[in-house]
Parts: sequence; structure tokens; C-alpha cells
Amino acid sequence: MTIYAGKKDMDLTGLSLEALRRMLNLSLIPKHVAVIMDGNGRWATQRGLPRIVGHKKGADTVRKVTELARELGIGVLTLYAFSDENWRRPESEVSFLMEMLVQHIRSELGSMKKNGIKFRTIGRTERLPASAQEWIKKAEDETKGNTGMVLNIALSYGGRSEIIEAIKRMLESGVRHEEVTEPLFTSFLDTAGLPDPDLIIRTSGEQRISNFLLWQSAYAELHFTDTLWPDFGKKDLLIALIDYQGRERRFGMTGEQVIKQSGKANGDE
Ligand code: IPE
Ligand code: IPE
Ligand code: MG
Repeated sequence: MTIYAGKKDMDLTGLSLEALRRMLNLSLIPKHVAVIMDGNGRWATQRGLPRIVGHKKGADTVRKVTELARELGIGVLTLYAFSDENWRRPESEVSFLMEMLVQHIRSELGSMKKNGIKFRTIGRTERLPASAQEWIKKAEDETKGNTGMVLNIALSYGGRSEIIEAIKRMLESGVRHEEVTEPLFTSFLDTAGLPDPDLIIRTSGEQRISNFLLWQSAYAELHFTDTLWPDFGKKDLLIALIDYQGRERRFGMTGEQVIKQSGKANGDE
């Protein structure tokens, strides 16, 4: 696989975890990384196994990725676990995913508490089964004082429904039309208080957004990999971060302006 890490095309997949860690610039770690975890079903089907086995294996990836993200000092890790559209899947798969969600929170809550992780969710979680809602509330309550990485799980989430709900809440709060600004609107979204994602990763070779963080992704860097989510490991996260670090984030300016600005920020003007 070819990764476009800045100036030159580099194949990083053959490098060891340690070599990749050395390539990473620890002063350029993104504040917010969001992941569209895709490919569990295909991973299982390729092995002649039921799709749910892929989801189980995908939960192990969640653990590994969360651990490395926290270690590297990523401030917010958002994981797209279940979309508004995923309710259209067969009932048996949906209920398996809901049970797995409860199991995952149950088994990980202790380590989240130990590691200072703050758990939160975005999405229409009121649509989830009662047991899932209870565990979400418990995990949020018991980690709310934590100041380490925010682990933000998108559940029953869709960017469009989030925007519609935000508009409704904004109107209900009595905001007048001349008061509406981008920061004000942002404060009504599920992600209120979180920075926009700097990097969005999607696994499994699909190159689409699938209703994820539509408003917040305005200036996110996108990293697509063919790796299926159950096969995604710590090395793959490092490769995505190295790819990100090679990008020039221009925010509408010219490349020259960006270089001048970063020179100023480094105090070498
Ligand atoms: C991602 O894997 C997990 C969820 C969307 C819940 P998929 O289940 O979409 O896997 P594929 O795309 O069918 O391989
Ligand atoms: C997107 O994956 C949603 C999650 C990862 C939870 P899907 O597999 O549902 O996306 P589409 O429908 O193929 O775009
Ligand atoms: Mg999919």
C-alpha cells in the first residue's frame, strides 16, 4: 500500500511498530481523531464465518486503538459504532450489536476509570435498548471527573439527524435569527465542547462519509485504508497519523501563508 506521507510516496506497511513510533512527531498529535470502523462483516464472510464474529473481533480492535490513542496523547477519540442507517440491518444483527455494546462497556469501565478516560456518546441514544442506556449513563457518570482522553462513541448517530435536533433545540431555547452564528450553532450539536476532528480514518476500502460528523468534518483530513476493521492494529493507527502529519492544512490560505504562519508560531521570524 502506498501512503502519501508529505513530500514522497512511502510504503510504511513493512515497518515495525517501533520504527513507525519513531517516525511520528509527538508535537503534532491531532487533538481529535474520528474513525469510521468498517469491514467487520466482510472480514467474517471472507472466512466463512457469521458476520457477528467480525463484530466480536472488531471489539478487540477498539480496545487496542483506544489504548494507543490514549498513550499518544490524542485528546478525543470518536468511534462510529452504529449509525442511524444501521437500524435497517436484520433484527438479529442489530440485537447482537446492542448486546455487544453493553458487554463492551461492562468489561472496559474499570480500565477507563484506571486510565483517566472520560466516556461520552453522540447520537440518538434514546433509541437504544434500556440496558444499553443504563450502562452508557453509568459509564458517563463514573468517568465524568476524568481529565484524560475523551472516548466518544457515536451510537444511533447520523450527522443529518444531529443537525435537525440541534436546530430544534436552538429554536426552543428562543435564540433570535440575528443571534445565530457558527459557534452558537455548534454549541447545540451533540459534540458541543469537543474540538472538530482533525483526522477521520475509514477502514475497509470504502471512500465515503456515511452521514458521519457532517458539520464537524468541514476541515478534517481524511485517511482511507483497505484494511478491514478487525485487522486494523496499532501499526495502522500510526500509519494514519504519519500520513496526517505529512499533510499541509491550509484552511483556505495559500501554502506560503501557512509556512509563514507556522514560522511565527515557532518564534523564528
Ligand atoms: C462496521 O462493519 C460495523 C458496523 C457498521 C456496525 P460492517 O458491519 O459494516 O462490515 P461490512 O461493511 O459489512 O463488511
Ligand atoms: C458506517 O458503516 C457506520 C459505522 C461504521 C457504524 P456502514 O457499513 O453502515 O456504512 P455504509 O452504509 O456501507 O456506507
Ligand atoms: Mg460496512
